[in-house]
Amino acid sequence: MTDISELDTPCVLVDLDRVEANLQRAQAFADESGLKLRPHIKTHKLPRFAQRAINFGAVGITVQKLGEAEVMADAGITDMLLTFNIIGAAKLKRLRALSDRVTIRVVADSAECVAGLSEAFADSANPLGVLVECDTGMGRCGVQSPEAALELAKIIIAAPGLEFFGLMTYPAAGKYHEAAAWLAAAKSLFDAEGIAVPIITTGGTPDIWHADEAGVATEYRPGTYIYMDRSQVAAGSASYDDCALTVLATVVSHPTTGRAIIDAGSKALTSDLLGLVGHGYIPAYPDAKVVGLSEEHGTLDVSACAEGGPKIGEQIVIIPNHCCPVTNLFDHVHLVRDGQLVETVAVAARGRVD
Ligand SMILES: Cc1ncc(COP(=O)(O)O)c(C=O)c1O
Repeated sequence: MTDISELDTPCVLVDLDRVEANLQRAQAFADESGLKLRPHIKTHKLPRFAQRAINFGAVGITVQKLGEAEVMADAGITDMLLTFNIIGAAKLKRLRALSDRVTIRVVADSAECVAGLSEAFADSANPLGVLVECDTGMGRCGVQSPEAALELAKIIIAAPGLEFFGLMTYPAAGKYHEAAAWLAAAKSLFDAEGIAVPIITTGGTPDIWHADEAGVATEYRPGTYIYMDRSQVAAGSASYDDCALTVLATVVSHPTTGRAIIDAGSKALTSDLLGLVGHGYIPAYPDAKVVGLSEEHGTLDVSACAEGGPKIGEQIVIIPNHCCPVTNLFDHVHLVRDGQLVETVAVAARGRVD
């Protein structure tokens, strides 16, 4: 048995009991809400957790990048939605190769994207399922109106090698009502033209507990929910006790009474603020603030802590602002239970942002 205090730092701890609880709670809520769950694996990049969610009832996974899809396919995951425009010959070739191995569907928000997909799949025995990405308020990718969604769907329907498979949106946090209204308006347009919309997929952990208000949506794609983080606590979708991924760091310097330095900087915690003040939460020292990061150093303001807070050599557990990019910074994560190491695993799709 290895106690986590014996681990070298900085490192990532993933609490297995919390992971299981987070997966089960979301699956139960999706079931109650009549929604299929298609978790986004970008948060953990681990085939075992993708499979675990499927074992609990998820219909498949969501991936953002082809590299993630390739890793998951190699690990035996067979049903995926890739929520990113695939542009360019190199990626189209990889997508075509993947589609020979697994069921993979993609999204598109432009005629240019659809044309590339069609060219790559025109001679395929299996048409590629394509969903229209809809901008329901996020202000990222996506067609800009329900009418534009219908227009692009007709282009997909007419394109050789492709099959129109539905609508996909990633709503802005807190804008689930707007997203639901947008999708409902689009669905009415499709119904009026007699065009079937097999899947209407929405998502996002900040509003996961409002998934039952997603209206015409048939699928929900949460990612962060498996680990949760400080930003989700701020959004009200989790408590600190739900946070499964933490960064273990060591206090390496205490230059003044009010300042302590840890060995986790932006290369461990990321610089993501997500609108928050400070770079993480330290459950053992709730009055300590992670006020600054350089690459390898984290600066704590411990002036409000009793007796100067953590001492040199002490290990501290930090809940990061945003768990997903932390995953992508470490080759390995330590799976832990009750403060003990269970297993150290390679983050299989780490770095696969291609
Ligand atoms: C397209 C898409 N779907 C789903 C998700 C999952 O979102 P969350 O991590 O908020 O659950 C994301 C997150 O970036 C996304 O970009």
